[in-house]
Amino acid sequence: MLCLAAASLLCVSACLLALPPRTSGLLRVDVDVLVLLPRNNTYIFSASRIAPALEYARRRLSAGPYAGVNFTLRYENSNCGMEALFALVDSARGERPDLVMGPVCEYAAAPVVRVASHWDIPVVSAGALASGFSHKQPEYALLTRIAPSYLKMGETFAAMFRHFGWQDAHLIYHDDKEERNCYFTTEGVHLLLDGDYETTAFALDPKEPLAHLDELFKIMLNHQVVIMCLHADAVREVMLMAHRRGLTNSNRLFFNIELFNSSSYGDGSWRKGEKHDYEAKAAYAFLNTVTLMRSTKPEFEEFSVEMRKSQRKKGVDVCEGCNDVNVFMEGFHDALLLYAIALEEAMKSGYTKKNGTEISHRMWNRTFEGIAGQVSMDANGDRNGDFSVMSMTNHETGTYETVMNYYGTNESIQILPGFNSERFFLRDAPRPSTPEPPKESSGGLGLSAATGIIVGGLLGTALLLAFYFFRKNYRITIERRTRREPCDGKHRQLREDSIRSNFSAA
Ligand SMILES: *[C@@H]1O[C@H](CO)[C@@H](O)[C@H](O)[C@H]1NC(C)=O
Ligand SMILES: *[C@@H]1O[C@H](CO)[C@@H](O)[C@H](O)[C@H]1NC(C)=O
Ligand SMILES: *[C@@H]1O[C@H](CO)[C@@H](O)[C@H](O)[C@H]1NC(C)=O
Ligand SMILES: *[C@@H]1O[C@H](CO)[C@@H](O)[C@H](O)[C@H]1NC(C)=O
Ligand SMILES: *[C@@H]1O[C@H](CO)[C@@H](O)[C@H](O)[C@H]1NC(C)=O
Ligand SMILES: *[C@@H]1O[C@H](CO)[C@@H](O)[C@H](O)[C@H]1NC(C)=O
Repeated sequence: MLCLAAASLLCVSACLLALPPRTSGLLRVDVDVLVLLPRNNTYIFSASRIAPALEYARRRLSAGPYAGVNFTLRYENSNCGMEALFALVDSARGERPDLVMGPVCEYAAAPVVRVASHWDIPVVSAGALASGFSHKQPEYALLTRIAPSYLKMGETFAAMFRHFGWQDAHLIYHDDKEERNCYFTTEGVHLLLDGDYETTAFALDPKEPLAHLDELFKIMLNHQVVIMCLHADAVREVMLMAHRRGLTNSNRLFFNIELFNSSSYGDGSWRKGEKHDYEAKAAYAFLNTVTLMRSTKPEFEEFSVEMRKSQRKKGVDVCEGCNDVNVFMEGFHDALLLYAIALEEAMKSGYTKKNGTEISHRMWNRTFEGIAGQVSMDANGDRNGDFSVMSMTNHETGTYETVMNYYGTNESIQILPGFNSERFFLRDAPRPSTPEPPKESSGGLGLSAATGIIVGGLLGTALLLAFYFFRKNYRITIERRTRREPCDGKHRQLREDSIRSNFSAA
């Protein structure tokens, strides 16, 4: 024991002696950063929206303890598809970049992360939120996700199901078959609930939002918890129709997921200035919204003001709500900070900036102070997420408030004053059918629609097959799977999806 201690002491002093005296901290290093974001400003993470955040971070870093790190930011248009990969490959004709920021879109990120990981270049993104990216080995080994992924969001639901004792979930989502944000969002929830709870997933075609709604409500009849990822108009429509059919009652809970632009949901979004507003308000009393928890601190105010100013200067369309600081601006700002911390640490330990593996791993499993508050990265390189649940608290005015928070770091739910326990602890609904024979609903559905697919395998595979064989006019129903799929399956899912994307782009 004593011997060991003495030995380690010896080692420590030896190591200290061996290190060159760099304690002044001013490492000098040039870092070439390739930023892959879409130029098109319809994306809330377009280059012109994110660039000011990165510039802000760069300025702050060069004024502080990381003054010796000289970041050069190069912006390339990633669009939302394969252009991202081409930009990376083209940019690496001479010297390869030291760091890649972005892409955000899933199908743009997948090939970029694969190639960058192969080249030992760290990728930090506030996107690439799909569950498939959680399996870092082997293809996404150097991906660090600075915004909470869809799987982390799914934890919020898993925690609520445990806490409130709900039994089943009916997932409804829009699938545009292009960027597929709602598909991937819903996948995160599905992966965490399915296996423990009876879960059905129902895809709506955004081009025909009102098709097959009868089926949708038939399934809803047998479910306690309805979770939607839909455009705001479709949410309103579903809520109105559910209300008219008497499905909004104390035996059922409705959620919609809106992570990035919560201004468009919940609060006030029942109001359209038309004759159904009153009814919609009554229906929305049963709707809860899951969104990212936003925290602020004094420094954040300065950051927000700066962001608004530079966006106005750049002529990014100034519209209510969409010009606010969003999670992508925050994320990419913090990404540069995190990289600087990890780089400095790695270099102090004798590694070079070219050792992407080492630098990536030093970005993981740590907590640091971001622009809006503490950022906690898990040991897998994904950010732990904090989410809020909002509900209508004033039924006269129809206004929403946050009633609950979920903290990913300690996996705990925090109940806030506006919380109404009567609404969340459901009365035990008389179940029309026990979970034992699910045949009744699924069989009838499958027959009547001729397209219902009873899936024993993967959500992704099912959708994939559906795309190939059933074309667009059909709706896809995924019936509950019997058990949680192995990790390998989840991993394959995104890969197959990416392949599909390549084909359709070709
Ligand atoms: C930007 O994206 C939108 C939606 O995808 C599209 O309608 C528009 O044409 C795009 N603009 C440019 C300049 O490519
Ligand atoms: C920062 O890096 C760029 C590109 O490598 C270089 O041109 C510039 O001189 C560097 N600045 C400083 C202060 O070292
Ligand atoms: C956010 O939602 C608001 C309200 O519906 C909408 O006006 C705005 O265009 C949305 N912003 C983005 C970037 O989608
Ligand atoms: C990078 O660092 C790892 C240790 O984390 C080491 O095993 C590896 O050999 C290094 N790679 C290079 C290219 O130096
Ligand atoms: C993460 O960090 C903690 C201490 O900060 C350490 O105990 C733990 O082993 C680390 N986990 C991994 C997987 O590296
Ligand atoms: C979980 O973490 C949050 C924020 O870090 C804290 O406010 C909360 O009290 C913690 N909850 C528990 C049960 O530890």
